[in-house]
Amino acid sequence: MIVAIDGPSGSGKSSVAREIARRCCLTYLDTGAMYRSVALVCLERGVDPEDAEAVAQVAREIAIEFAAEKDGQLVLANGKDVTSAIRTPEVELAVSPVSANPAVREVMVALQRAAGERGGVVAEGRDIGTVVFPGADVKVFLSASPEARARRRAVQRQGGNLATGKDVAVDAATEEAILADLVRRDEYDSSREASPLRPADDAVHIDSSELTFEQVVDAILALSPELSARAGRAGA
Ligand code: DC
Repeated sequence: MIVAIDGPSGSGKSSVAREIARRCCLTYLDTGAMYRSVALVCLERGVDPEDAEAVAQVAREIAIEFAAEKDGQLVLANGKDVTSAIRTPEVELAVSPVSANPAVREVMVALQRAAGERGGVVAEGRDIGTVVFPGADVKVFLSASPEARARRRAVQRQGGNLATGKDVAVDAATEEAILADLVRRDEYDSSREASPLRPADDAVHIDSSELTFEQVVDAILALSPELSARAGRAGA
């Protein structure tokens, strides 16, 4: 069983993919974290994110692991816990050129396919349904308005999480800066030559702007009898 969830930043796909994996006893594969880990190691080693060959070398050498934790998942790059370090604004800037690098994508896609070989995966990213797992059992393209996405990210940065109903106050300037960054990244991700962000022809589109987290999760579970059955069996 492979579930592919693609979409732009802040569409809610990480929280949704994690919850589907939890409820259906599947493994959650956060492919964005893999590109972020490569970007972080480049920054740590003083490698210019625009230096295609040097960045590709980092990607070929990096060891990325995911370790289960009580409330989620740890990301390890070369044995070091980078779960928080890959979410900084510096990494967010560097990850665009890193993920647009075809040699980096080649290495990451191979690692992602290896992770999916035994099946039982919910993978989220930008090219899961189009490139990584074109034969996925369920394909979803999750989107939301830029404003809705910026608000979710802003709340997240302040320690809240709209997916779980934990709303916190955010200042308008922060939200606006996040919106500008999201729009910049959307443009970059959609217009790059290597695997631009686009829905697979057979993906089901879900716009989460006006939906609650639970509604999105339920809509995805309803797409496949096997997924619904797994969620039912797991008793969630
Ligand atoms: O989903 P995210 O924000 O953690 O992704 C980080 C960056 O990696 C983002 O700029 C898009 C890119 N990415 C990608 O190109 N392909 C993927 N499968 C996942 C993420």
